Amino acid sequence: MSQFQVKILRYATLPSTNSEAASLALAGAAEGQCVVADEQTAGRGRLLRQWISPKDAGLYFSVLLRPSLPPERWPLISLMAALAVQSALANVAHLETDIKWPNDLLANGKKISGILVESVETKSGRAIVLGIGINLRSAALAPELIDIATSVESVTGRRVDREVVLIALLDALKTYYSKLQAIGGEEVVIKDWSARSSYAAGKRIRVSNGDEVIEGVTQGLEPDGALRLKADDGQMRIIRAGDVWCS
Ligand code: BTN
Repeated sequence: MSQFQVKILRYATLPSTNSEAASLALAGAAEGQCVVADEQTAGRGRLLRQWISPKDAGLYFSVLLRPSLPPERWPLISLMAALAVQSALANVAHLETDIKWPNDLLANGKKISGILVESVETKSGRAIVLGIGINLRSAALAPELIDIATSVESVTGRRVDREVVLIALLDALKTYYSKLQAIGGEEVVIKDWSARSSYAAGKRIRVSNGDEVIEGVTQGLEPDGALRLKADDGQMRIIRAGDVWCS
């Protein structure tokens, strides 16, 4: 499986790099089209949340993918992306992180990076916009987030160059995306994710999916990346969406 060719477009400011990448996808952009912004004025996260994106305080970018995987396996893309972010942060910032299901990167128990996977219908088929935000500087952390979020600068005491992180991360993404799409790659990604996340098995968590809150202990991943949870009522629940906390 060949790797995608990265083509980077840089902007001083955008509402959201995901929205810009989706527009480019609709206009026929190829896999590997990447959009980076110094700041976002309407950055968004999972579950309709805002992603606060002050100028030069974080890495805010999106990359367009046109996966050959069957659509029911597309949730694995967000797990594969979390592995790539974890590996890039370890390589360039010497920072060890945990992965909270499905794809939040945590440092010292606080969120340092988030991933938003959106799909877009284009003339050449359904595509994925993979958006990644990494808090690089303390300035990325709004006062109301200080208890739950952190930055590379806050954890390591050092500033890393945004460009160095971007290039390392795009390289890691190319590697993990090829791995995922190779024969047997889905199992490899599940295995790697499970080895690198304390949330994979034996973790007591609480999940809110909007309708209900379920508590229990994690029991590994399904083949499509869904989280198995042995709920406190004894039932095995398969979690495909929602917000997870340690309980
Ligand atoms: C989350 O943790 O909820 C996901 C956050 C994703 C934020 C990134 S920043 C770049 C890209 N553009 C956006 O509007 N969102 C993603």
